Amino acid sequence: MADLDRIRLAALLARERAEFAASHPRSLELSRRARGALLHGVPMPWMAKWAGGAPVFLAEARGARVTDVDGHEYVDVALGDTGSMPGHSPQPTVDAIVARVAGRGGITTMMPTEDAIAVGEELGRRFGVPAWQFALSATDANRFALRMARQVQRRGKIMIFLHAYHGTVDETVATLDDQGKVIARDGNVGAPVDPALTTKVVPFNDLDAVRAALAPRDVAVVLAEPAMTNVGMVLPTDGFLKGLEEACADTGTLLIYDETHTMSMGPGGCVRAWGLAPDAVTLGKALGAGVPIGAYGLSAELRDRVLADDEGDYLDWGGVGGTLAGNALSVAAARATLEHVLTEEAYASMLFTGQRYVAGVRAVFAKHGAPWHVVGLGARAEFGYTPAPHATGGDAHAAIDPLLDDLIHAALLNRGVMLTPFHNMALMGPTTTVEDADRVVGALDAIVGEIFGS
Ligand SMILES: Cc1ncc(COP(=O)(O)O)c(C=O)c1O
Repeated sequence: MADLDRIRLAALLARERAEFAASHPRSLELSRRARGALLHGVPMPWMAKWAGGAPVFLAEARGARVTDVDGHEYVDVALGDTGSMPGHSPQPTVDAIVARVAGRGGITTMMPTEDAIAVGEELGRRFGVPAWQFALSATDANRFALRMARQVQRRGKIMIFLHAYHGTVDETVATLDDQGKVIARDGNVGAPVDPALTTKVVPFNDLDAVRAALAPRDVAVVLAEPAMTNVGMVLPTDGFLKGLEEACADTGTLLIYDETHTMSMGPGGCVRAWGLAPDAVTLGKALGAGVPIGAYGLSAELRDRVLADDEGDYLDWGGVGGTLAGNALSVAAARATLEHVLTEEAYASMLFTGQRYVAGVRAVFAKHGAPWHVVGLGARAEFGYTPAPHATGGDAHAAIDPLLDDLIHAALLNRGVMLTPFHNMALMGPTTTVEDADRVVGALDAIVGEIFGS
């Protein structure tokens, strides 16, 4: 962004932060207190990464709105970084939670519930893979699916795409150095082993690199988002996913699509919308409207291989599973969310609002001559600071601009809009109205106008 006056941007950011501090005394007070009790002063370090300069403490959240402890209401398009894609506390999910916990009773036992079957059946219908298991997070769904894949394949390595994020899965906290060698990502905390031993890393949308990585047939499984959503948004180029599937088939490599974020694309995520054919699908976050749950579904063929494998211990010590996984509360929440909240009709409305938001952002950039782009993926959209969308995670990573991010995010907070921290991602839930989307666009209009002096 050579054309922009960085000193002026820094001054604008200082102005926005001062305004934030003046109008958020209670959040600041709680933040000071939290430093005495919580490592990093927050329950999770990323909760401190709000651009106003301090965490925004939550008071209430309903639908597409959150209210902080200082009484400010925001249009929330962060939606818990997808955990609340169904909107905050959707009534059918709340009713199912209450019915499970207070009505029938029983949060976790050692017994399955019928709700789990209903969730497995519905996910099977949506994503086209029939055999489901549960975890408590998408991270764990990925971990367990990777383990199963390595076990049945009797191969040691996995492959991911450069700058992908699949949760805190050890093997995936890997990147490439300048020479194309796999190394740990910067700041990888206490990495158990050198990720070069476990992982190959390849640029997205580069079929030659995919084929070269898979050719030695030492990769058990590729873990991929159908579109990258954690380094800006990188859509697959025409034919890339088909080519990826073919390269996997040619080399006997399994393919897992992580649809944790890309389920914004429709009821069956990108897998259904784009007719993809993975060996497994992983999910989490939004599935229980924020009640912790992860899920992984296997194709019939992979299911049969797992069932025929008598060396893997899936029951006890084998490294897959968890005491609370599949608990009665999580699956009750997921069933209600799938059956009554993230319905086909709800997706139709989310996709409509998503398109309107993308058109609005595009118009704002055009109006102010901002050489920036916006990419939509169903109900989610992300803008970036280059004229054209990125083709690889590497391009997207190189275009990250922390000063612009902070300025835009802080300005939006001060104008009643919550954009996803450390992303420029906006997500439209079933209760996000056209007016909400327009309000986000309006707030963006104000700050982009200031940035470009128009
Ligand atoms: C694509 C993807 N997969 C998995 C995860 C992990 O989700 P969780 O942190 O809820 O385990 C994330 C988190 O952002 C993600 O973006």
